[in-house]
Amino acid sequence: MKVLIRVEEPGEDEAISEVHIRAFGRTAEAEVVESLRGRGALLASLVALVRDRIVGHVALSPVEVGGMPRAAVALGPLAVDPDYQGRGIGALLVDAFLQHCRVRDEGLVVVLGYPGYYGRFGFVPAERFGLHYRDAGEAFQALEVRPGAAEGLAGEVHYHPAFDGA
Ligand SMILES: CC(C)(COP(=O)(O)OP(=O)(O)OC[C@H]1O[C@@H](n2cnc3c(N)ncnc32)[C@H](O)[C@@H]1OP(=O)(O)O)[C@@H](O)C(=O)NCCC(=O)NCCS
Repeated sequence: MKVLIRVEEPGEDEAISEVHIRAFGRTAEAEVVESLRGRGALLASLVALVRDRIVGHVALSPVEVGGMPRAAVALGPLAVDPDYQGRGIGALLVDAFLQHCRVRDEGLVVVLGYPGYYGRFGFVPAERFGLHYRDAGEAFQALEVRPGAAEGLAGEVHYHPAFDGA
């Protein structure tokens, strides 16, 4: 199966929302993506295509750390259409996302998700860097794409208000 990962193009927002709705079985994550886009906070948006159809998506947005705006970036929401899960498309999206971060010279990436899934990409519990997100515990993870990027950062992480439905 040939999979193409590339940056979102104009007119693809509905297909992207559909992937999130199908993957999560609800509209919340699609609404987060739409809100980020509408508020200019969708700093990067990558899609996975199989035979010209969008089957996966991942969003990149700014996060505030310990009161410092734009101190890091968040990976997510991430979704792969249920018909295409378990075939490595999620991994391709995460790899491309991290590569994108390096090109953009982002330092630190945080993610809220299954430790067993993100650990394989190098994410570790964010508390090792002194970073916390509400009561997320081990599900809140971080990765220094630029070594040492977390130095001097600590405290509570705040996602963009779009994640709270704003
Ligand atoms: C999570 C998700 C993006 C992974 O995409 P994918 O294309 O299926 O991922 P890959 O094929 O690269 O990897 C599959 C791996 O994901 C793991 N995975 C999927 N869902 C998981 C879960 N709920 N908990 C832990 N691991 C999970 C599988 O166990 C599998 O592991 P393996 O490689 O050891 O067999 C996709 O399953 C999805 O969209 N799920 C619903 C939405 C969601 O939960 N998004 C992520 C929020 S953190």
